[in-house]
Amino acid sequence: MPFAHITGWGMSVPETILTNDDLSKMVDTNDEWIRDRTGIRERHIVDEDQTTASLAVEASIKALQVANLRPTDIDLIICSTSTPEYIFPATACLVQDRIGATRAGAFDLLAACSGFIYAINMAAQSIRSGSIQNALIIGSETLSRFVNWQDRNTCILFGDGAGAFVLQASEMPGGVLSAVMHSDGSGGDSLILQGGGSKYPATEATLQAGKHFIEMDGKEVFRFATRVMAQATREVLDDSGIGLDELNWIIPHQANIRIIEAAARGLKLPLERFVVNLERYGNTSTASIPIATVEALEDGRLQPGHKVVFVGFGAGLTWGALAAEWTGPLPSERKVYPRRYRLWARVRSFLRRVVRFIEGVIWGRGS
Ligand code: ACO
Repeated sequence: MPFAHITGWGMSVPETILTNDDLSKMVDTNDEWIRDRTGIRERHIVDEDQTTASLAVEASIKALQVANLRPTDIDLIICSTSTPEYIFPATACLVQDRIGATRAGAFDLLAACSGFIYAINMAAQSIRSGSIQNALIIGSETLSRFVNWQDRNTCILFGDGAGAFVLQASEMPGGVLSAVMHSDGSGGDSLILQGGGSKYPATEATLQAGKHFIEMDGKEVFRFATRVMAQATREVLDDSGIGLDELNWIIPHQANIRIIEAAARGLKLPLERFVVNLERYGNTSTASIPIATVEALEDGRLQPGHKVVFVGFGAGLTWGALAAEWTGPLPSERKVYPRRYRLWARVRSFLRRVVRFIEGVIWGRGS
């Protein structure tokens, strides 16, 4: 049975930064309150021309570059997001088209901030079963487009960004070791975006009622999160047979420093064993774990051979954890340039539209 290794990674965040001081000019809040209660100093916010798919494409190209894989080598793309470009088509399909991953199946996965963990696990299982070789996993969010900028309970928390991993099959032991996934839909209303779905399709009334914004019971989510983070970490360590003392890094969902501190206390581990970067990005939901991972790799903290646990929680309610032995790129003789495929992908996409148009004309005539 092949092992599923994480061999590529990339991130993309918008350039525009919104600081706590900027926010204090928009709502009744201040830098001291936000830093004290959440640990967040600033977050990145998309410009008008940026979207969930455009951030995802940038992160994906970087991940392919690190893994030294062509877009055409990818068998499966999973895009985890709660802020998709559209309800359908899936954002994963937009990415598939734009990067030129012509052989890949593609779908979106919605498990809120736990989504990246769920997605890695789904891809790893497909690799372990032998059904695919190479997968591209993306976490991408533009939460700023769904936040009520007049609601100080939520708008201070969230930021935009994307991260991506490449997973590859190899007979070499290591990679994804085990994962746990949980849900409790009875808590669904504590973090919810009601409008735009089948229950509340967009109408004048839903707009007036603010149903197209994120609504959150912060205290409820906080209590839930502090309970499940340590619990899920212990569960996945038990499953994988890794001892707490062998663990090099915990890379948690970056929601609130107080939640991460509670997890550290619950596990009796020093905070230094956790990768934390929420002060600069806020909560980027499903993108937060890959973004934190990429930063830990780039500054040399996370190294091949390290044992790592990803752990997260989010709307649903959902939570989960995944244990892995870090690998890095697999050895390869060839050198590929995934970015160069973008022009070709654009031409291909255009030609496919033309072909579909011609087919439509021919079929139209025939009927
Ligand atoms: N600035 C200043 N004061 C504020 C602000 C603000 N932005 N927000 C609330 N306050 C006030 C409140 O009105 C309250 O005032 P009062 O005592 O006069 O009533 C006081 O500050 C305390 O408010 P609390 O809500 O009790 O603050 P708390 O310490 O619980 O922190 C927070 C709120 C940061 C939202 C916290 O509950 C939290 O982090 N919860 C978890 C949220 C989370 O992680 N969500 C994402 C989940 S992941 C996903 O799926 C996207």
